[in-house]
Amino acid sequence: MGLQGNGSSDPKSFNFLIYGRTGWIGGLLGKLCDSQGISYTYGSGRLENRSSLEADVAAVKPTHVFNAAGVTGRPNVDWCESHKVETIRANVVGTLTLADVCRQNGLVLINYATGCIFEYDDKHPIDSGIGFKEEDTPNFIGSFYSKTKAMVEDLLQNYENVCTLRVRMPISSDLSNSRNFITKIARYEKVVNIPNSMTILDELLPISIEMAKRNLTGIYNFTNPGVVSHNEILEMYRDYIDPKFTWKNFTLEEQAKVIVAPRSNNELETTKLKTEFPELLPIKESLIKYVFEPNKKTAEVAA
Ligand SMILES: NC(=O)c1ccc[n+]([C@@H]2O[C@H](COP(=O)([O-])OP(=O)(O)OC[C@H]3O[C@@H](n4cnc5c(N)ncnc54)[C@H](OP(=O)(O)O)[C@@H]3O)[C@@H](O)[C@H]2O)c1
Repeated sequence: MGLQGNGSSDPKSFNFLIYGRTGWIGGLLGKLCDSQGISYTYGSGRLENRSSLEADVAAVKPTHVFNAAGVTGRPNVDWCESHKVETIRANVVGTLTLADVCRQNGLVLINYATGCIFEYDDKHPIDSGIGFKEEDTPNFIGSFYSKTKAMVEDLLQNYENVCTLRVRMPISSDLSNSRNFITKIARYEKVVNIPNSMTILDELLPISIEMAKRNLTGIYNFTNPGVVSHNEILEMYRDYIDPKFTWKNFTLEEQAKVIVAPRSNNELETTKLKTEFPELLPIKESLIKYVFEPNKKTAEVAA
């Protein structure tokens, strides 16, 4: 199968078809294309409706397709526990249908997936610096959302045209967005305190566009290198944004009482992405550069 895309860096030689117009990541992608002068169109089809996707591809004639569509649940992934068929329709039937249509048309599909399919275990203990690799088999299927995402990721490995990006706990510089991990935990009554791999969208979404330009495929752990804990983020929030900010911690056992499905906590190994993009910043440096410095409200940040 010949994949389209010419490896050129001239923005005019690309034409992207993007799914997820009304979503967080999909919206940011459109803005990035605008700023880079890349032509793009948002898909109007529903993922599970094959003929609607075929019509989009025929009308847009894209060089690459981006999938930032899917259900994540509102207000959170607990929604998926009580809406299993809807979750399967979008995240399983839909994602596989889009991958299949792209393959049939010789198109690379950049698929925003999730890294919430792993949890710390004996071979990857917390704070060990030993992260899960791209080829590791998912070990977290505690929530229905993660279970379906792990199943789809496995099946998508058979599609040589798909680039699977394992996003985790996405963060952006827009602290007013309630989907932003920082904004979420700053508003919680109580938070757990566990180190995790996370994705700074301001740094990584431009990298995903570059990955399309390079026609990269396969699985990538799509997070910044290293881990950061809830408390470390909230300390930065206090130091840069609100000196009066305070918070309360609780244990995983106490957290389990206020959520329906268990949540995944893990570190992902990022050597594969870092080898392709050596400039990729460690998570804490990226947080400061892309999120806290641009939003800084305090006069002095304590050393
Ligand atoms: N946000 C996170 O915490 C997080 C973490 C890791 C990975 N991700 C992954 O990144 C992707 C995008 O996340 P996001 O936070 O940007 O999601 P989002 O804000 O919830 O947006 C989801 C988008 O998908 C569209 N959509 C849902 N079902 C669809 C379907 N069947 N056909 C076509 N479009 C459909 C929605 O459009 P309508 O409103 O029209 O339905 C919306 O535009 C998801 O696949 C998610 O799993 C997100």
